[in-house]
Amino acid sequence: MSKLWSGRFTKSAEEWVDEFGASISFDKELVLEDIEGSLAHVAMLGKTGILPESDVKLIQGGLKTLETKAKAGELSFSVKMEDIHLNLESMLIEEIGPVGGKLHTGRSRNDQVATDMHLYLRRQTEDVLQLINGLQEAVLIKAEQHVETLIPGYTHLQRAQPVSFAHHLMAYFWMLERDKQRFSESLKRINVSPLGAGALAGTTFPIDRVYSAEQLGFASIYENSMDAVSDRDFILEFLSNSSTLMMHLSRFSEEIILWSSQEFQFIELDDAFATGSSIMPQKKNPDMAELIRGKTGRVYGNLMGLLTVLKGLPLAYNKDMQEDKEGMFDTVKTVIGSLKIFEGMVSTMKVRTEKMEQATKSDFSNATELADYLASKGMPFREAHEVVGKLVLQCINKGCYLADLQLSDFKAASGLFEDDIYAALNPYEAVKRRNSAGGTGFKQVSLAIEKGKSLLAEF
Ligand code: ARG
Repeated sequence: MSKLWSGRFTKSAEEWVDEFGASISFDKELVLEDIEGSLAHVAMLGKTGILPESDVKLIQGGLKTLETKAKAGELSFSVKMEDIHLNLESMLIEEIGPVGGKLHTGRSRNDQVATDMHLYLRRQTEDVLQLINGLQEAVLIKAEQHVETLIPGYTHLQRAQPVSFAHHLMAYFWMLERDKQRFSESLKRINVSPLGAGALAGTTFPIDRVYSAEQLGFASIYENSMDAVSDRDFILEFLSNSSTLMMHLSRFSEEIILWSSQEFQFIELDDAFATGSSIMPQKKNPDMAELIRGKTGRVYGNLMGLLTVLKGLPLAYNKDMQEDKEGMFDTVKTVIGSLKIFEGMVSTMKVRTEKMEQATKSDFSNATELADYLASKGMPFREAHEVVGKLVLQCINKGCYLADLQLSDFKAASGLFEDDIYAALNPYEAVKRRNSAGGTGFKQVSLAIEKGKSLLAEF
C-alpha cells in the first residue's frame, strides 16, 4: 500500500530517509491505546450521525480484529507506514476495505497521538502507584520487626545520635508516600482528553468531544485545541515525579550498599539480589542497588531531554514532539523494574541487629545525652556542650568512650553529675527518651508505623 498521505507528492523518499522519520520501532508500544482511542472516536462518529451505523459497525469489527491480533502478537508493522497510527489505519483498510478510510474523519494524528499517550500514562501511573504502595508495605513490615533495634544515626556520614532502625526505614516510607501523592495528583492532568482537537484547530464536523472522552474514561476535555495537541506537560510531570522517586530509591540504594559492606556489616542481602565476582571468590556485590542508583541517571536524562525538546517549539504540533516517546517508555520500564527489585531486596534482606547495636556502643553518639543531662539540671545548654566536649577529648586521649569514665571524672567536670549518668549514656535509653513528635523514641516510631498502616489500608 502507498503512503496514506501521498496525494500531493510526486516522488517518494528513499528508504533510509523514511527510516529516520519513522517512529514505529518504538511507538508500536502504543498499539492497544491507539485502537482504544479509535474505537472511542468511531463510536462518537456513529453517535453524532457523522458516519452511518453500518460503517461504524464495519470499522468497529475491523478494529476488534486488529486488537485481537495485537494481543496475540500477530501484527507486523512496517517502517514504510511511519508510525503506529498509519500502520493501524492501513491494516484496517486492508482488513475491511476502503470504508476503513472513514475512521480518520474529523481526526488528525496530532490529537490521536496525544490521546494515545494520555491513555498510556494513565495506565502506567496506576501501575507505578501500586508498586510504590507495595514497596511501602515491605518497608513497613521490616520496620515493624525493628522498632527496638538500634543503629547509629549519621550526619555528614559521621555517627551523630543512635536511632531506631525502624525510624530510619520509615523515613523512606514517608518519601514514598509523597511520591505516591505526586503521581496521584498528576492523574488529574493525565486524565484529560485531547481527542477531537484535530490537527490544531478543531474540525468542521459536528463531533462530540465529551462523548468520546467519556468512552475513554477521561474526566474532562482540553479547553483549547491548540493546547490539546501541543501539551506534553503531563509527560514532563511523569518524568519529573519519576526522577524524584528514583532519587529516593537511589539514596536508599546507597545506604543498602554501605550497610552491606564489610565496613558496616549492618545487613546482608539475600543471594537472589546479589552477585558474585568472576575473579574474587569471596565477593557478594550489591549489584541491584548499584544499578538502581545508576539508572537514576537515565531517568533524569529523559526529563532533561524532553524539557529541551519542547523549549523552543512554536504552537502547535511539530515533528520534534515525536521525540517525547522513547524517554517516556524508558522511564516507565526503569521505574517499574526498580520498584519491583527494591521490594524484593528490602523484604529479603537480613538485618544484623547485633552489628548495628554494637556500633551504637562503640562511639560518641551518646555525647548529646550528656549535654542534655546537664541542661535538664539547669546548666545552660551552650555551657553543657563545652563541658561534654572536654570529656570527649579526655576519652579520646585515654582511648576510651564516655561510659568508660569513672564517676569521679564526671564529677570533676561538673558537680551536677550523679551516678544516674550511666543510665543516661545507655543508647537504648537515649533512643527511648526521644519521644518528641516524629522523633525516634520507640513510642513515636510505633505510632508512625500505625499511621503508615492505615495509609496503606486506605490506598
Ligand atoms: N508519529 C507522530 C508523533 O509521534 C505522530 C503525529 C504525527 N503528526 C504529524 N502531523 N506528522 O509525534
